[in-house]
Amino acid sequence: MYTLVLLALTPLYMQTLCFSNNKGGVGKTTSALNVGLALARRGHRVLFCDCDPQRSLTISFEGADAPEHVGMLLMRKGEVSLDDIHAVIRPVGENVDLLPASAEMEANEAQLPGWDAEHSTRLADILELVASEYDYCVLDTKGSIGTLTWIALAATNVLYIPVDPEFYGFEGLTNLINTCTRLRRRINPGLRVGGIFFTKYSPAYRARLRHDVVDLIKEHYGQDVPVFTTTIRQSTAIPNAQMAGAGLFDYAPDSPGAEDYEALTDEMLQHLSHGY
Ligand SMILES: Nc1ncnc2c1ncn2[C@@H]1O[C@H](COP(=O)(O)OP(=O)(O)O)[C@@H](O)[C@H]1O
Ligand SMILES: [Mg+2]
Repeated sequence: MYTLVLLALTPLYMQTLCFSNNKGGVGKTTSALNVGLALARRGHRVLFCDCDPQRSLTISFEGADAPEHVGMLLMRKGEVSLDDIHAVIRPVGENVDLLPASAEMEANEAQLPGWDAEHSTRLADILELVASEYDYCVLDTKGSIGTLTWIALAATNVLYIPVDPEFYGFEGLTNLINTCTRLRRRINPGLRVGGIFFTKYSPAYRARLRHDVVDLIKEHYGQDVPVFTTTIRQSTAIPNAQMAGAGLFDYAPDSPGAEDYEALTDEMLQHLSHGY
């Protein structure tokens, strides 16, 4: 029975989910990591790909420190083979593999041929080669829309936007959503904005300011972009687990953070099964 349910919920083809927002510190890496781990806990095969030269996602995994990184594949001239990709992928847990990032990718970003249709799909082409090996690929991005984020979005099926309602800038979100529209037109017609979700926030919080920001965002974007019901509350277990080098679900399975990421993952899977 369980197998049947799992089969029904397993995508037929690898779905690439991207966590992005052109602001730092809003919970992109935390969300990519914990949604990815929650998917793996549900039996899905997950490939993480770290597209941020700051490497926050990479260093969340012990033993991921290897000289090979995804930037090497992106920079390579000519065809990238399946062997080349397998040489970079690190197994980092049950059902979980990682394409690590490197600080070098910051310097290399300027040299990456990007933007035009031919070069924008470099990451998409690489991921397509391993698509039969995974159910989900989870991309973490940096806090700006440079070439690395552009090629990550060019490889994305569904974009999720974590928003911390304490730090808010309209231009940022509008910019990101407009970038998706441009990509959809020319390069990645299948790109969907899966939705906005609020981090470090609960509707039950007392401070009025954050509720006002949440209301404003819903008013401004809610027509065009789904807004998740689940929010990720402030949870000290999140930074503590990171400091301890442990996964949140092992470190503090009953914490608000773990509960909320489980609920968010369920809500995402529900949306995905309805095609959005
Ligand atoms: N729900 C949360 N509760 C408490 N701290 C959080 C939460 N989400 C993220 N953080 C902390 O906020 C900081 C920024 O999060 P991070 O995921 O690295 O953001 P980004 O990738 O957008 O820069 C990290 O120190 C992280 O531990
Ligand atoms: Mg990050």
